[in-house]
Amino acid sequence: EDIRVEAWAPFAEGRNDIFTNETIAETAAKYGKSNGQVILRWLLQRGITVIPKSVHKNRMEENIDVFDFELSDDDMKKMASLNKNESQFFDHRDPVTIEQIFGSSLKMVQDDEK
Ligand SMILES: NC(=O)c1ccc[n+]([C@@H]2O[C@H](COP(=O)([O-])OP(=O)(O)OC[C@H]3O[C@@H](n4cnc5c(N)ncnc54)[C@H](OP(=O)(O)O)[C@@H]3O)[C@@H](O)[C@H]2O)c1
Repeated sequence: EDIRVEAWAPFAEGRNDIFTNETIAETAAKYGKSNGQVILRWLLQRGITVIPKSVHKNRMEENIDVFDFELSDDDMKKMASLNKNESQFFDHRDPVTIEQIFGSSLKMVQDDEK
């Protein structure tokens, strides 16, 4: 449907020591870039929209400076190998979580159906 996907939090809100992760740092060193820049590049090269948040001017400048290099296919695969196959935020399949997020909306639908 030509729908563009946006990263929920492109740096996973800084979880999992993402800015110092050694696998990412090895790749970053190859391109003379930072971990953050490699992460953004990995997302952008997959067609994913990114809106990274920072309150630091130097980091904002760093985060926009990602359009002068391209990760190789091998490096894209290396980044993908870090996938944990689970959300870093909450489990979308957990009924308790769904109830917490959508509880009031679900109740409205159920009430309408009565
Ligand atoms: N995550 C959510 O639940 C959620 C929900 C709705 C909307 N959004 C929006 O999505 C956007 C991004 O989400 P987010 O802020 O939750 O997570 P994020 O962008 O994945 O991570 C932000 C964190 O990364 C740090 N950071 C940013 N650039 C960095 C760099 N170059 N080097 C080192 N650290 C860096 C920031 O610290 P500093 O600020 O100290 O630099 C902050 O702690 C925001 O615009 C947010 O409003 C998020």
